[in-house]
Amino acid sequence: MHSFRFLMTTEVYFGEGVVSRVGQEASHLGKRALLVTGKQSSRRSGALGTVMDSLEQAGLTVEVFDQVEENPSAGTVERGGEIARKMGCEVVVALGGGSPMDAAKGVAVLAGLGGRIEDFLGSGKINAPVLPLVALPTTAGTGSEVTPFAVITDPQDGMKKSMVSRHIFPRVALLDPQLTVSMTPAITANTGIDALSHALEGFTSTKAQPISDALALEAIALINRHLPRAVASAEDLQARSQVLYASMLAGMVIAQTGTTLLHGMGYAPTTKYGIPHGLSNGVLMPQVMAFNGSEDEERYAHLAVALGQREDTASAVEFAVEAVKRLRDEVKMPVCLRDLQVKEADLREFARETMQHTRNLANNARQVSLDQVLQIYEESF
Ligand SMILES: [Fe+2]
Repeated sequence: MHSFRFLMTTEVYFGEGVVSRVGQEASHLGKRALLVTGKQSSRRSGALGTVMDSLEQAGLTVEVFDQVEENPSAGTVERGGEIARKMGCEVVVALGGGSPMDAAKGVAVLAGLGGRIEDFLGSGKINAPVLPLVALPTTAGTGSEVTPFAVITDPQDGMKKSMVSRHIFPRVALLDPQLTVSMTPAITANTGIDALSHALEGFTSTKAQPISDALALEAIALINRHLPRAVASAEDLQARSQVLYASMLAGMVIAQTGTTLLHGMGYAPTTKYGIPHGLSNGVLMPQVMAFNGSEDEERYAHLAVALGQREDTASAVEFAVEAVKRLRDEVKMPVCLRDLQVKEADLREFARETMQHTRNLANNARQVSLDQVLQIYEESF
């Protein structure tokens, strides 16, 4: 066995009702909190009220920053950081999907260290502790509650850029399946498929290692088994719990391995057309798997088993590709870029943008050229 390192510094609480711990947990970290959330959904679902009550009952002074948009921009993060500094926040509470959680990480960095967000984009640019973060995911997909990453959109070039540092692991993650009940079927599907892509990419990453492999295979099997039910029935807390748990496992995977070609390719349709992140990955997923799998039969044999293969009736790669296509159909996800109003003329630009995501490409087991990336986009059109 190869030597390896595994790092995950977040304390995790999982289960129905753990949302009510937020006041208690945050009060260990500070007396003044900035609550970072999206513009509407947490208010509408009642989650914001529940979290506010818990924080106030624990004696915290709370300011709400509810200006986080989908795919948060550097400007939003900087505004949040300024508010946190002005009110002397000691702890940041993130409530929402990937966008609020990633924005909250940026806010915690700026509130703690000052400066501009672009000073911290990239890997290892944060060299001191930032404000502690308590994360409460309301979607089951991003895994951001257990990762050292934040993805921020740079308005200069419109590209999604990652901030990577052990200092932005949330201090505490509270995973309450009841918080995910308010997701629409489409959001449940998109975020669940994002989690699936984290596990698939992590398992086939050049940085894959034994612990992350075990987590990835479990996450894949759970999503394959439970996502259709979570999409079909919002109130099915059993299915919701399993998918939320799987998305956390998949987050722990990419915390070690990073993401690979699929995420690298998924970003451009999102930044250019606003296609949800998980949907963008889902449309590209089978084609990227077929490309990567052709040179990685052994790993794909494990993936196929996790996806339900019981007999060698098809090649492992074929089985795995067909299994994700079937899952995508079951959760009623669009299957090609054309159906998402993408223009074919943009594919070359998408491919050029993908080649700039060098970290994703370095993590991908198979080397890839601009022309090969373009071909995968064409196959996905
Ligand atoms: Fe993702």
